[in-house]
Amino acid sequence: MLTTGFKKRIRDSLRFKSFMLLIFPDWSKSLISWFISYAWKVSSALRQAQRIIVAIAIERREAELCAEEGHCIKLAQRLLILTPAAVHITSMAATQAFFDLCHRPEYIAALREELLQVLHEDEGFKKTTLTKLRKLDSVMRESQRLSPPSLLGFKRTPVYPIVVDEAVTPDSGCFEGFRNYQKRLFPGEANKHQFATISNDNLHFGHGKYSCPGRFFAANTIRVLLAKFLLDYEFDLILIAG
Ligand code: HEM
Repeated sequence: MLTTGFKKRIRDSLRFKSFMLLIFPDWSKSLISWFISYAWKVSSALRQAQRIIVAIAIERREAELCAEEGHCIKLAQRLLILTPAAVHITSMAATQAFFDLCHRPEYIAALREELLQVLHEDEGFKKTTLTKLRKLDSVMRESQRLSPPSLLGFKRTPVYPIVVDEAVTPDSGCFEGFRNYQKRLFPGEANKHQFATISNDNLHFGHGKYSCPGRFFAANTIRVLLAKFLLDYEFDLILIAG
C-alpha cells in the first residue's frame, strides 16, 4: 500500500531534499527545509505514512514496541526511508544487470547453461539453488561495480582515500563478467567475492557494523529476476536512432 502510493513522490523528494540539504550546516537544516518545496512534500508524505503505519503498528504491537505513539512515528520515518532504499535500489541494480547482459550477449549462453544445470541438479528452484548460480552472481557484482546505484551512495566519511586497486581488480575499467566467479575457484575463496559479500574492496553495501542488512534479500531478488529473463526470454539491445 505504502510502496505503490508514495514511491515516486517520496523517492524524488527525499533524494532532492537530502542532497540539497547536504550543502548547509546541520544547525540550519530544519530552518532551511521550510523554504524548499520538496521538503513540504516529504512532510506531507510522512504525515500520510504515519496515519497508515501508526494505526496498524498500534493494532499489531500494542503491548510492546509501539505502546507509545512516539515509537510509531519513528517507525513511519524509517519505513519511508527504507522503501525507496530497498525497492528502488534493488530494481535499479536488476535493471542495470539486465542492460549489461543486453549489451554483452556473449555472457547469455554460459549463464543459461549454468542455470539449466543447477535447476536440473536441484530438480527445480529451491532457496539454495540461487546460491549455486555463481556465474550469474559474478555478473551481478561486476555490473554493480561499474554502475553503482549512485556516486553518492557511500554515506560514511572515509578516513583514508578510497582508490581502485589494480592488483585486486585488474583492467578495472573493463566489464569482466566472470572475474568474481574465477576468484571463487581458488582454494578458500569459494564463499567470497559474491554480490552480497562486503569487504574492503566492495563497499556498495557499506561495511562493518552498519552494512546493509537487506543485501542477501536484494541478491536473491535480482537472481530470481534475471533467471526468469534468461529462462523465458530472448533479449537484445535495440538502438533507436535520434
Ligand atoms: C542492491 C540493493 C541495495 C544496496 C546497493 C543497498 C545499499 C545500502 C547501503 C550503502 C547502506 C548504508 C550502509 C551504511 O550505513 O554504511 C544500506 C543500509 C541499509 N539497507 Fe540496503 N541496500 C540494498 C538493498 C536493501 C534491501 C532490499 C533492504 C531491505 C529489504 C535494505 C535495507 C537496508 C537497511 C535497513 C539499512 C540500514 C542499516 C543500518 O543503518 O543499520 N537494503 N543499504
